Amino acid sequence: MISNILRRASTIAMRPSGLQAAFYTTEAKAEVPVVKAAEKKDHFVNFQIYRYNEEVGAKPYVQTYNVNLKECGPMILDALLLIKNTQDPTLSFRRSCREGICGSCAMNIDGSNTLACIKKTTEAIRGNSIKVYPLPHMHVVRDLIPDLTHFYEQHKSIKPWLEPAVDAPRYNGKELLQSKENRHKLDGLYECILCACCSTSCPSYWWSEGGDGGYLGPAVLLQAYRWIADSRDSSTKDRLAIISEDNMKIYKCHTIMNCTRVCPKHLNPALAIAKIKSLLAHN
Ligand code: SF4
Ligand code: SF4
Ligand code: FES
Repeated sequence: MISNILRRASTIAMRPSGLQAAFYTTEAKAEVPVVKAAEKKDHFVNFQIYRYNEEVGAKPYVQTYNVNLKECGPMILDALLLIKNTQDPTLSFRRSCREGICGSCAMNIDGSNTLACIKKTTEAIRGNSIKVYPLPHMHVVRDLIPDLTHFYEQHKSIKPWLEPAVDAPRYNGKELLQSKENRHKLDGLYECILCACCSTSCPSYWWSEGGDGGYLGPAVLLQAYRWIADSRDSSTKDRLAIISEDNMKIYKCHTIMNCTRVCPKHLNPALAIAKIKSLLAHN
């Protein structure tokens, strides 16, 4: 258990930002050389990037890459791709859609969780540097790639699919009907892309997500509320029972609000959690 916690601590790197706690990897900061000598021009920026390879087993370290911003697009993901293509093909990170839809490129940039493909480089520069780390407090598979297995298992546990009543009204005997008003109740919920930026910015999730009955975290709870709020679903009672069967699953939320502050889709997981708590209190 303790070794597990220490292992996590060694793979966590986060700059203090607002209410977020600070976790630094202090080891092996200095040994790694800058790939290209820094040049004193405004459009040259040092990307300080967290590196770790589980297969090699060496300690994590920070590697610096000097990047000419005129050679790539305006987003952090553009710069990472330039580094990978021209300086270091071993640099590893996830990405797919490059337009904030898939959630793959979630990482910690300039001390805050966000999507690399929609984060402008110019907004992340501090001095002449940009810090890029993996999502905090997760096992790191390699470099900027966290292991999201547990996160997805938690998502699966809340049954993220529609469970309509057998006799629910249907159009042409197939499509489930929903009024415009009821459809609007899903706004601010259905847009969630499960990027995990919110859950991995939540101190309660950091310390209570492990093992059976751990805290579900803001992303999974927002997803749970998305199905509860759907007028076509008939399983609200069961869904609330799943969430409340263990006090850890929802009541570890202490309304710290990091989740809502970082969500790159501008959603409000803390509000969804409050609404579930209200339903639990009145059922
Ligand atoms: S609520 Fe926002 S931050 Fe959390 S998983 Fe969904 S899109 Fe990502
Ligand atoms: S409001 Fe709840 S879920 Fe959001 S960061 Fe705070 S403790 Fe975590
Ligand atoms: S690459 Fe899909 S959200 Fe960034």
